[in-house]
Amino acid sequence: MFEWKPEYSVQIPEIDAQHQRLFGLASNLHEAMAQGKGKTVLEQSLAQLVDYTKVHFAAEEQFMGKYRYPEIAAHKAQHDQLTAQVIELQKEFSAGNTMLTVSLMTFLKNWLEHHIARSDQQYSVYIRSKLAA
Ligand SMILES: [Fe+2]
Repeated sequence: MFEWKPEYSVQIPEIDAQHQRLFGLASNLHEAMAQGKGKTVLEQSLAQLVDYTKVHFAAEEQFMGKYRYPEIAAHKAQHDQLTAQVIELQKEFSAGNTMLTVSLMTFLKNWLEHHIARSDQQYSVYIRSKLAA
């Protein structure tokens, strides 16, 4: 369900590696859910994904700042929104909302595929033009 594909590449190895790790963490979570793992295991798996998401977004924002990407504010706003949503889902999950599985997986899939495949491509084009200059 969660698979990084070459077409998601932003042609920046450091960022691609981070995106691959995000897909890997989402995949671990999905697998743990599919295997019916207990709440503690799932919480840990989700926490790993949330924590790494924060690390990755911060790295991307630093990168965009370094190259003065003009759309940084809009991109950061997307990150903030995604972070807030995933933290909300994490809270609901901890509170015992067991119906969360499907919506969480759908959210993660949409996020990983759409944000990375679209928004991240936009800064990638800009930053690569700077790197080539
Ligand atoms: Fe991003």
